[in-house]
Amino acid sequence: MCGIVAYIGSREAYPIILKGLQRLEYRGYDSAGVALLDKELAVFKKMGKVAELESSLVGKNLHAQSGIGHTRWATHGEPSDRNAHPHRSKSGKLAMVHNGIIENYAPIKKELLQKGYAFESDTDTEVLLHFIDDIYQNDAENLEEAVRIALKRIVGAYVIILLDQDQPDTLIAARKGSPLVIGIGKNEHFLASDASPIIEYTKEVVYINDYEMAIVKPDELILKNPGNERITPFITKLDMELAAIEKGGYEHFMLKEIFEQPTAVFDCLRGRLDAKKGTITMGGIDQHLDLLKEAKRIIIVGCGTSWHAGLLAEYVLEELCRIPVEVEYASEFRYRNPVINKGDVIIAVSQSGETADTLVALENAKNQGAFIFGVVNVVGSSIARLSQAGAYTHAGPEIGVASTKAFTAQLTVLYMIAIKLGYAKGTLTKDRYQHYINELSLVPDKILDVLNSAGSIEKLAGKYQHARDFLFLGRGYNFPIALEGALKLKEISYIHAEGYPAAEMKHGPIALVEETLPVVFVATRDLYHEKLVSNAREIKARKGMVLAVVTENDTVFEEIADDIIAVPAADELIAPLISVVPLQLLAYYTGLAKGLDVDKPRNLAKSVTVE
Ligand code: F6R
Repeated sequence: MCGIVAYIGSREAYPIILKGLQRLEYRGYDSAGVALLDKELAVFKKMGKVAELESSLVGKNLHAQSGIGHTRWATHGEPSDRNAHPHRSKSGKLAMVHNGIIENYAPIKKELLQKGYAFESDTDTEVLLHFIDDIYQNDAENLEEAVRIALKRIVGAYVIILLDQDQPDTLIAARKGSPLVIGIGKNEHFLASDASPIIEYTKEVVYINDYEMAIVKPDELILKNPGNERITPFITKLDMELAAIEKGGYEHFMLKEIFEQPTAVFDCLRGRLDAKKGTITMGGIDQHLDLLKEAKRIIIVGCGTSWHAGLLAEYVLEELCRIPVEVEYASEFRYRNPVINKGDVIIAVSQSGETADTLVALENAKNQGAFIFGVVNVVGSSIARLSQAGAYTHAGPEIGVASTKAFTAQLTVLYMIAIKLGYAKGTLTKDRYQHYINELSLVPDKILDVLNSAGSIEKLAGKYQHARDFLFLGRGYNFPIALEGALKLKEISYIHAEGYPAAEMKHGPIALVEETLPVVFVATRDLYHEKLVSNAREIKARKGMVLAVVTENDTVFEEIADDIIAVPAADELIAPLISVVPLQLLAYYTGLAKGLDVDKPRNLAKSVTVE
């Protein structure tokens, strides 16, 4: 949540910061702002998307060689010009951007009010800035020391970057709980919430760790710990190309990412799964195979779509490995004092690797002795670094706020883990092991087949776009897909949608069924097919509309359903990797038909770095 970007060097700072904010806009788009330092500090901010800030600045003098920028997802204070970042100190000489939440801002604000500070915004960020400024004016030798003293009292999560008119050659940054990457150029530095604003200038980056402070000059990067000792920056090479974060001819990132799924799944399998040899090689698993084999319990932790991937993994791991699995919402798990025993393995599922609830849940579990295994997309992210072992999903950058290719890549990794582990444990026979390997290797082509029918799904979206509510029903392996289909539709089209296990329908949701209610059945051919057929007949008997995702040549559903989306046949365990794709397309085209901004749905942010 919230994206921050900063530059210091000899180029014009504004275009770099503006482009950076556009790339980070997926993290929040309630308002945007920049502070630029030429001789004097100038601050510009605007409610709305980055484009609105950009048009408000046309014709202004934006010359500067250092600056900071922010794109906001509102936490404290409504979206407005005055609550937008950067905030400015009383003297007007300091400007600061912040990503995170200052939990104990209220008592600090009270003290500052007593000292005569006035507040222009309702944000916790302005409180922190005035607090730093007060220490800077009265108790510290320099800004760096003031920041260090102030942060000792702060409870919460933050990345902050400060610009000081009296120190034009220095930016000061610090982090705890929110991400910060620093790109190293030739006599210049780039700071950002993730690597996307940096990638076109340099591939050498330093990921800042919690409690570290960076003093950044054009030609020098000094890292310090809270004890004011210098730390050697650990330089990493970015393994990402610029093209991966651009739209590449697609109208939206979401559509591009849906269409990238054959490649994303293929890339995820590549070098790991060899169908001819019948092997799955995963460095992170191979090293810890004994530990995983002996796990008393696996607890999968995640949020949103990642939680749905976890839920499906529960079904698959229990089926193939016979290890008890629990799936937890990270936000619940972190607070509810769960029983964690030695021998428990936690699998963390996260696209961004920065979700605050997941991160803290993992920290707690790790402190209680659990082994943390990360299934993460963003390389070098906080969750990836906290994990003791893991497997990257290699889906490439996901920019569209709704998760699509990251989900199928997460599932691919989780399937590989389950198949490998089941075989190693002896709970999966050689034949079934080889069968699932073959089935997985066929998934990219089958997804491609589904994508080829995107046009007919677009037509269906046009037909159903005016519905007020949707129900998504599935059973067994397709139940998590029903949940995911409902979530996607809600996010992108703002149509109320609920996912249910199909058999639960009779225990309540059936009361909603009437002529105007579309009910989506995720009904690919499996053990439950007959039962889903009965459920669909029950909906039709009550005049509901049935839209069914079925395996090709399903003549039974063809008879019952109002509309059919046929997908290629696959083993029932693997089929969800394919049956989810039409639901992603349905959500996309429905949002599009309704004229909505599908890449930036209202109120959402891609990376939820506040709890
Ligand atoms: C839904 C979506 C969210 C994320 C959730 C977790 O389309 O994208 O529900 O899945 O916020 O995010 P990560 O996976 O980054 O931890």
